[in-house]
Amino acid sequence: MGKDVIIACDFAGREETLRFLDLFEKEQRKPFLKIGMELFYAEGPSIVRELKARGHKIFLDLKLHDIPNTVKKAMAVLSRLDVDMTNLHAAGTVSMMEAALAGLTRPDGSRPLLIAVTQLTSTDQERMERELLIREPIDRVVMHYASNAAKAGLDGVVCSPLEAGKVHETCGRSFLTVTPGVRFADGDAGDQKRIMTPAEAKRIGSDYIVVGRPITAAEDPVAAYRRCVAEFCD
Ligand code: C5P
Repeated sequence: MGKDVIIACDFAGREETLRFLDLFEKEQRKPFLKIGMELFYAEGPSIVRELKARGHKIFLDLKLHDIPNTVKKAMAVLSRLDVDMTNLHAAGTVSMMEAALAGLTRPDGSRPLLIAVTQLTSTDQERMERELLIREPIDRVVMHYASNAAKAGLDGVVCSPLEAGKVHETCGRSFLTVTPGVRFADGDAGDQKRIMTPAEAKRIGSDYIVVGRPITAAEDPVAAYRRCVAEFCD
């Protein structure tokens, strides 16, 4: 497990998604795909089934956060959808993460990977202190949430590639780091602030990189995907 490029399918609907994926039809390596809230809420579970049937691994990025019992039941539904990876907010507490894991585990003991979101990268120190009344330094909060996720038995966290090394130091090398914020050295950063190239993300020890626009908005998405794989996986 690990060392793969996950393409963020941030598309509004099925047609646009399939049009994009048709470009990869002849590709030997089937891309691992991330389905987020936009696509899932637009198309429902059928889009997951359809992309699985086309041979893709799926990271279902719905970031669950509710009382433990509700999250447990929701995770049981997601495990039946046969996704390969899904996630929740570590802020939901260790009990919620434990319940999620229990819900996600199938009768035969298998389950998708479960990854925690620590502090969203859109939350900065000032907002966290002023609005959430959390007064610790943000990197300490991120590592604390990652430790809680490890304690609950989760497989890893979504984090900035810049945090991946520290997460591994804190939670162990086998604790997965899934890192967005990836850009090519000669590419456009867009709205991402703390970025790294696929090669740098590899060097720092990210296990999976999540790449959206550098592939989806590229003139040649297949070439951009191959470049990510060559830099990160090979
Ligand atoms: O287009 P881009 O490569 O910036 O896409 C990155 C993907 O990773 C998007 O789906 C975005 O929502 C997601 N993401 C992120 N930063 C986080 C968590 C998720 O960019 N902290």
